[in-house]
Amino acid sequence: MCGIIGAVLVQGLVAPLIRQSLKRLEYRGYDSSGIATVNAGRIYIKKDKGKIDDIHRRLNFDALPGVIGIGHTRWATHGPPSRQNAHPHIDCSNRIAVVHNGIIENYQELRESLVDRGHILLSETDTEVLPHLIEESLQTTKELVQAVAKILPQIEGSYAIAVLDTSGTALVCARKESPLLLGLGTTGFYCASDVPAFLPMTRKTLVLEDGEIACLTAQGAVLYRLLSTGGLAQLPPRQPTTVQWTLDMAEKGGYPHFMLKEIHEQPRALLDTLRIRKEKLQKFAEEINKHQTVCAVAAGTSYHATLASRYMFSQIAGRFMHSVVASESPEIIDTSLGNDAVIIAVSQSGETIDTLHALKGLKRQGCTILAITNTVDSSITRLADDVLYTQAGPEIGVAATKTFVTQLACLASLSIHLGEITGKQKHREASELFLKLNKIPDLLQSIIRNRESLVKETAQQYVAKPSFFFLGRGISRATAMEGALKIKELAYVHAEGYPAGESKHGPIALVEEGFPVVFVAPNDRTRRFILGNIMEMKSRLAEIITICSSEDERLIELSDRVVAMPPTLSNIFSPIGYVVPLQFLAYYAAIQRGFSPDQPRNLAKAVTVL
Ligand code: AGP
Repeated sequence: MCGIIGAVLVQGLVAPLIRQSLKRLEYRGYDSSGIATVNAGRIYIKKDKGKIDDIHRRLNFDALPGVIGIGHTRWATHGPPSRQNAHPHIDCSNRIAVVHNGIIENYQELRESLVDRGHILLSETDTEVLPHLIEESLQTTKELVQAVAKILPQIEGSYAIAVLDTSGTALVCARKESPLLLGLGTTGFYCASDVPAFLPMTRKTLVLEDGEIACLTAQGAVLYRLLSTGGLAQLPPRQPTTVQWTLDMAEKGGYPHFMLKEIHEQPRALLDTLRIRKEKLQKFAEEINKHQTVCAVAAGTSYHATLASRYMFSQIAGRFMHSVVASESPEIIDTSLGNDAVIIAVSQSGETIDTLHALKGLKRQGCTILAITNTVDSSITRLADDVLYTQAGPEIGVAATKTFVTQLACLASLSIHLGEITGKQKHREASELFLKLNKIPDLLQSIIRNRESLVKETAQQYVAKPSFFFLGRGISRATAMEGALKIKELAYVHAEGYPAGESKHGPIALVEEGFPVVFVAPNDRTRRFILGNIMEMKSRLAEIITICSSEDERLIELSDRVVAMPPTLSNIFSPIGYVVPLQFLAYYAAIQRGFSPDQPRNLAKAVTVL
């Protein structure tokens, strides 16, 4: 997730305006940034690794001349943060500059054929293929907008791009699956990943739809539909909407809190993570398979992701995986594991000191370290032998939400690849599993759309309760533990996340009339046992809140409150969907109890003390 901005001013210098816009997009990524402008037939670029203000202090972005410019704030996906990998990227002749947000899946093939045709590419990014392709296209096409249109049908993946060239009359932007909005002002026209970028200049905005291209000039914006042939069909002018948001609201996408925004971003984050290149996952899976012992190490929510993935590894790949809380690792596995062990280290921040400390010990013992993280260039990436990046984009709310579901998606994909290697899955079966996994972003969208208000009511109903149980069996145990962690950390309510079968060995003693017990109960092979656990709680007059399939009539009948889930959600991947109502529950419980969900007390986004 990066932030892009493009601007065409009627008069004045565009660079200071773009710099300030980038500041307002910095929440989308901040490992490097850059600005390109065009003036008197020449492109000017300043870019570097680091935060916008620091780069500006060194390079002075504001000195770039011209009324047309583009800017980018990067959240690295292909290639580490560096000056070379920072956007904008240019073609061989310095005639075209491009900024891009998204992932070009077939960039490797495009890059190889460009190099064969004599192009010199300087970065490791997927984006850099774009200016070079446009360079070729401009040899046979006069207008920039036509040249851009011509190359887009060959781009697989997602993009929001802004392009300028030395002709210096127009800026072209296009979109497929990555956000892009137009801002229509009186003194300038803009395109950006998000409204805050141009909010101080204009409140009039238009959403550019997938497959649309816009050409911005000092006279306004002309919209086109991209044809599959690479041609353009001009669209009739569209009425802009007027945004009423304050800047603070706009930064949160109109949501009152980052956490709520991030819950709503989960389908997108998942989709991006499911685009991780097959070869990369395959390589990871092969490395895992080489080792006799597989052990996951993580903390907090990331630990819960590893707990869930144990079931995936076992049921899909036939491989047993240990899962150890990072802070406990030095006491239990440091001395017992060696070079026949592979460690799967999971951390959204890549900076959790418990996890880093554990990994240092395990590395000394000779273990191979494979990291899964959301943060490029974080400390964990330097300790690891190889790294997989989840594609959640920066997560600002302290509570992990979208990073959790992307970790699960990553581990699920890995388990399928591993299953093919171990022979537990035939190729056809593995393809079916991938199909099921790829359906989850849409299912998540429908859960978010259809269940939020119901969970909000549920939170209202139980908000005064001092204590909760969250119970699940099998893979749902991890979901239940995550639900309990969320409500504890956000609403400051006591909660226990427990394996449902184990609840009768002690915790049940706490249950009395009206005690709320949340059951996470997909229709998998544990369901017949969970039915018994519900009966045990019911007969002690507990209030039963169940998250189960909308087709599970028996559980629905037994429960006081039900959050029904789509029956098409595959059981082995169920935590990815079933966790969503629990995130909403914790969020709304916090709000109703008067606490800020974005900054819970005593917690930090990255915990860097042992
Ligand atoms: C989750 O909501 C918490 N903020 C916390 O448990 C977190 O998951 C934990 O500190 C681990 O962080 P990491 O993924 O960055 O390593």
